[in-house]
Amino acid sequence: MRSLFDINELSPAEIDSLIATANDMMANPAKYAHVADGKKLATLFFEPSTRTRLSFEAAMMELGGNVLGFSEAQSSSASKGESVADTARVVSCYADIIAMRHPKEGAPLVAAMNATVPVINAGDGGHNHPTQTLADLLTISREKGRLDNLVVGFCGDLKFGRTVHSLINAMVRYPNVKFVLVSPNELRLPDYVKTDVLEANNVEFVETSDLMEVIGDMDILYMTRVQHERFFNEEEYLRLRDSYILTPDKLKDAKSDLCIMHPLPRVNEISTAIDSDPRACYFKQVLNGKFMRAALIMMLLGLEAK
Ligand code: NCD
Repeated sequence: MRSLFDINELSPAEIDSLIATANDMMANPAKYAHVADGKKLATLFFEPSTRTRLSFEAAMMELGGNVLGFSEAQSSSASKGESVADTARVVSCYADIIAMRHPKEGAPLVAAMNATVPVINAGDGGHNHPTQTLADLLTISREKGRLDNLVVGFCGDLKFGRTVHSLINAMVRYPNVKFVLVSPNELRLPDYVKTDVLEANNVEFVETSDLMEVIGDMDILYMTRVQHERFFNEEEYLRLRDSYILTPDKLKDAKSDLCIMHPLPRVNEISTAIDSDPRACYFKQVLNGKFMRAALIMMLLGLEAK
């Protein structure tokens, strides 16, 4: 039995196979409509979510399966003091697979160690978010036709943004991928990613706080929300939250085939005037996420299209 806590538990070959399944499911949904008949997915969300939870649920329904779960810690026995380990054991009696989001780094790993069914990390604190990365990889692959030979820019909260950490971890494995890291000084990429992932793999990267200086180099621009819920100091959040607002004038030096991504929710980081620009890919990312989650559920449950 296999769970997914960190994106690199999947090999590049497995990621290619998930991408192939997701693309096929998009083209031929009927082939997949009954692959999970009689199976149940539990979504255990101890932190707010719109996309991740609903996309897991929609993915399971499109595979013919059923869903159960909760969307806030207050409505679960966690509010009575139950441990994550016990919740995982209990839910294993009700469901065939679990997707868990938790504000504490490592909680889904503890769940996976105690559950008797596969557990998928749906976001743990400021740490990891592997299924968002699967959505991002499918988006890059569909938009660019490749996952190698790219300049990938990240902009915003690179300190607390778990989607950034997971995508960097995944993309250092592809040849000739360079990174451009744009953030205010206070929200720079943590050392455990910079040193242990980028430098350890001899990957080229630049760090700057000036988006305009580097936007023209990028094939991908991954904008992120400043992660309010992870700040200890409200004043600092207010000072940093609008550090970058992407507006049409800022794209004047950008490549004509730039792919603009954002895991969403967006607060102010991307002006709605960009939404009609053909380079805006963030709503496609949402759709792609549903198909990659379906492909992942199939892989972890050993299900195949008929
Ligand atoms: C992201 C998250 O939860 O980390 N959202 C998502 O799952 N698409 C990004 C965010 O909340 O800013």
